[in-house]
Amino acid sequence: MEPDAKRQIYATIHRQITGVLEGVEDPITTFATVASVLHQALPYSSWTGFYRVVAPGLLRVGPYQGPVACLEIPFERGVCGAAARQRATQVVGDVEQVPDHIACDAAARSEIVVPIEDATGELVAVLDIDSHELDSFDEVDREELEKVSAGLVQHLGTALAEG
Ligand code: SME
Repeated sequence: MEPDAKRQIYATIHRQITGVLEGVEDPITTFATVASVLHQALPYSSWTGFYRVVAPGLLRVGPYQGPVACLEIPFERGVCGAAARQRATQVVGDVEQVPDHIACDAAARSEIVVPIEDATGELVAVLDIDSHELDSFDEVDREELEKVSAGLVQHLGTALAEG
């Protein structure tokens, strides 16, 4: 997809998230709503959702849209684990080139995973989006989804640490 077309989609996404979540402080409501908005708006998304840090070194699936996914992912494994370990966004153009990739959905071909850190720098979750097409995600997705992640943290504030 052309970068300009993507930017337009993300502009709508940011507006929608801000509008629908006004006055909402519940983290589950927030995560579920963001997953839905992103999944509906991004034409290349086959799975969109969150893995939450539930114990040291352990991610557990949170609100998502798409087929049933792995329930738990240790930090040592997969693209989500790499994002959690490195605290850095992972953009994978071809999941078959990543030996460590966890194939929850055999049809997944590319993905992006963005870490979500709270205001104190604590990792609380990762945002994972998969696609059935190769190379769906680029620098536009990285930049815009990091903006979504930062917006989420700002929106939830202390509710994130308590949730
Ligand atoms: N792709 C992830 C696993 C989670 S599912 O795709 C929803 C990974 O390798 O970390």
